[in-house]
Amino acid sequence: MSTRIAVYPGSFDPMHEGHLDIIRRCRPIFDQVIVAVLRNTGKKHPLFTVEERVDLIGELLSPWDNCRVETFSGLLVDFMDHVGSRITVRGLRAVSDFESEFQMAQMNRRLDPRVETVFLTPKEEYSYLSSRLVKEVHLLGGDVSGLVPNLVRDRMDATLAERTRET
Ligand code: PNS
Repeated sequence: MSTRIAVYPGSFDPMHEGHLDIIRRCRPIFDQVIVAVLRNTGKKHPLFTVEERVDLIGELLSPWDNCRVETFSGLLVDFMDHVGSRITVRGLRAVSDFESEFQMAQMNRRLDPRVETVFLTPKEEYSYLSSRLVKEVHLLGGDVSGLVPNLVRDRMDATLAERTRET
């Protein structure tokens, strides 16, 4: 039987507990899980550089031998071809996610008909979580413990402290 390699793509700025929950759910389903960090998001004001995100995600995945982190630029389907994957995983938190996720899945299928998108839902307690909200709450002094792994929270604290010193 061929190796089932899943690619879980995203910005992951930062990786939060909802993302980790999706990866945990992938582990028994697929032989290998590649967390793929997009390099050219075009999103303004990232919290972490791509290298910092890769570093953090690498540490978070280190206990799991069938998971690894990589980066990609350009089309997701090209990256998937490069790593020998036909399955991409996306998390669906709520119905509101569905429309844009459906569009992406259909576009990816059009670009490469061999690609299938698998949607997984996170634990209910993470259904409202997004990287954008986590960043906003943290920037305004709110406690993000439990929403992101402690490693990420500590790195967020350090980055914010550094930026505050600079201004
Ligand atoms: O975490 P995000 O920002 O929701 O992730 C979006 C991502 C990275 C999955 C998406 O933007 C993507 O796949 N970009 C790569 C470019 C691409 O392949 N575009 C065409 C298909 S939608």
